[in-house]
Amino acid sequence: MSTELITAKTLSKEYKRGSEQVHALKKVDLSIKDGEFISIVGPSGSGKSTLLYLLGLLDSPSKGSITIRGKETSGLEERELVKLRRENIGFVFQQFLLLPTLNVRENMELPLLFSKKNGKPEKITEIIDMLGLSHREKHLPHQLSGGEMQRVSIARALINQPKILMADEPTGNLDSATAEKIYEIFKKLNQAGLTLIVVTHNMELATMAHRVIKLKDGEISSS
Ligand SMILES: Nc1ncnc2c1ncn2[C@@H]1O[C@H](COP(=O)(O)OP(=O)(O)O)[C@@H](O)[C@H]1O
Ligand SMILES: [Mg+2]
Repeated sequence: MSTELITAKTLSKEYKRGSEQVHALKKVDLSIKDGEFISIVGPSGSGKSTLLYLLGLLDSPSKGSITIRGKETSGLEERELVKLRRENIGFVFQQFLLLPTLNVRENMELPLLFSKKNGKPEKITEIIDMLGLSHREKHLPHQLSGGEMQRVSIARALINQPKILMADEPTGNLDSATAEKIYEIFKKLNQAGLTLIVVTHNMELATMAHRVIKLKDGEISSS
């Protein structure tokens, strides 16, 4: 039986832009179960990134609550949030964010430095193999294609063995064939038990998920 992983209740986020208030999210309710693969779609400015960063505990809501496995996250100290994030969530961004002077394996291992874990070399190799990067292990980011760079950033997000992978327009900088390959990887990871929440502009890719959440003007218009 699937269990509740993340629950968001009446989530609102307001930003100040000069003297103007921007209502980026308006009372969003959302429940995500263990093992789901979810796409978040919607026009530019509809609140997709805001929602993802709130669910990923990278930012805090103006109002409303987020629970992770039943644990309320509002009111937690930054130190506790960091721990929750580190133990549960991996992030992938459109811009890859690889360090240019580190090779593929070193970029992947970076999060271990912060979690003070020792990555088992065979586990790291397993992730490298799964993402088809074994022939690139010693390469620097500038020697890689866009698709390979994004695969390295996915590998890096997996290194602490998160339960949830969150990605914000991960294929925004890739051509359509390469983008589809990234989604094939997401599907494979999901089949292996990982929960995925992926923001995308691409409706064709979005429908590869179990559930598509459509945002419009900070509200869920359908899911
Ligand atoms: N840090 C910020 N300060 C002010 N306004 C912001 C900030 N981040 C996002 N916004 C505004 O909130 C709305 C939603 O933004 P965002 O979540 O980035 O949308 P999307 O990812 O769907 O393009 C937009 O109107 C955007 O301009
Ligand atoms: Mg965005």
